[in-house]
Amino acid sequence: MKVLVVGNGGREHALVWKIKHSPLVKEVYCASGNGGIEKIAKIVRISPTDIYSLVRFAKENRIDLTVVGPEQPLSEAIVDRFEGEGLKIFGHRSSAAILEASKAFAKDFMKRYKVPTALYETFENQDEAIDFINRVGTPIVIKADGLAAGKGVVVVKSLEEAHQAVKDMFGGKFGPASKRVVIEEFLEGEEVSYICMVKGDKFVPVPSSQDHKKAYDNDEGPNTGGMGAYSPTSIITPEVEKEIQEKIVIPTLRGMMEEGREMSGFLYAGLMIGPKGINVLEFNVRMGDPETQPIMRRLKSDLVGHIMDIMEGGIERVKPIWDDKVSIGVVVASRGYPDRYEKGKVISGIEEAEKDSDVVVFHAGTELEGDRLITNGGRVLTVTATGQDIVKAKEKVYSAVEKIKFEGAFYRKDIGWREVTRLKQ
Ligand code: AMP
Ligand code: GLY
Repeated sequence: MKVLVVGNGGREHALVWKIKHSPLVKEVYCASGNGGIEKIAKIVRISPTDIYSLVRFAKENRIDLTVVGPEQPLSEAIVDRFEGEGLKIFGHRSSAAILEASKAFAKDFMKRYKVPTALYETFENQDEAIDFINRVGTPIVIKADGLAAGKGVVVVKSLEEAHQAVKDMFGGKFGPASKRVVIEEFLEGEEVSYICMVKGDKFVPVPSSQDHKKAYDNDEGPNTGGMGAYSPTSIITPEVEKEIQEKIVIPTLRGMMEEGREMSGFLYAGLMIGPKGINVLEFNVRMGDPETQPIMRRLKSDLVGHIMDIMEGGIERVKPIWDDKVSIGVVVASRGYPDRYEKGKVISGIEEAEKDSDVVVFHAGTELEGDRLITNGGRVLTVTATGQDIVKAKEKVYSAVEKIKFEGAFYRKDIGWREVTRLKQ
């Protein structure tokens, strides 16, 4: 088979890496890839959102299967367009991708189907939003309605910050994404990522994971796309998992079907587990980044075989085999991320880091310039390692991270801290 992966981040590097291992696959292409993907797959210089050109490429090159990484092409109907041309593609149609593309849709949908989520109101007017905040007080959470790469959400503690955030959003800080603003109750607790492969009302879970959204240690600083993750997380016990499936996954899949928005692809529930029980913070219609990187390290069975089974109506046959080891991924970012960051810095030490056979380094914002690898994005690498438990995995991953250098590199030193604390109890 010839497989095309759409996307250019760490998640896509991990997908390409896994797909390369498939006995079904002869050739892997990636649009538009990065410096790491270029070493293991054929790079296609087409942007992930240039759907017209991607369709043409897939037809001309007789691509047997396309796998979509990010949300943007999904919400811009890449799946609808590929299917319209008779091309096989794994991901949701745009009618289902709205579950991530519009927070207002997702919140109203959860209300309709009684999926537990924070109380909220949606606003299209700045003054009404500010009145509402003044009435309910802080802490409170303010979210731009549309896609903003995980950065259109602010959790504010003071009224001044809240007013500023509302003004920024209506002032266009996130472009069209912030014409509508969702304001919701602040929930305390611990965040986890629960991801499934889904088709209609059926699903196969992948192992639980936990991301670290804040930029700096001790969960301080601004929200980012994610600074590191590990899998599995012991907060998801079998009982908790059963509750997630019964109260969240099943009603969501059924509700989407009822509304003519049948799902087919990955469904990612970002959950908050705390004093108010298990609540959905957001749905994503794709795998997480960086969660995919440690999760793919644990998948022993064939991802492409599973995807083909799901697409051919055989999701019941999908029985993935997961490594018992704990897997962890630490993101190395460019100085300035998640705001403006520097580019073009030379990266060294990856080969050294990968000398440990338990370590794999996935690239995100990297580029090959001749035989030099340079930075080209905010999140530059995800360094992953596996180990018998979280403490061992953590030791391995950080000794690998320390070998990697570029000017202005920074990373969190406490990825997995909650799990380490739990293990010690
Ligand atoms: P979202 O994109 O909606 O998941 O929001 C991004 C991040 O903001 C989440 O990963 C949480 O860290 C935080 N967040 C979102 N909603 C809430 C909430 N209701 N209470 C507390 N934190 C939240
Ligand atoms: N790691 C968070 C996300 O992929 O949305």
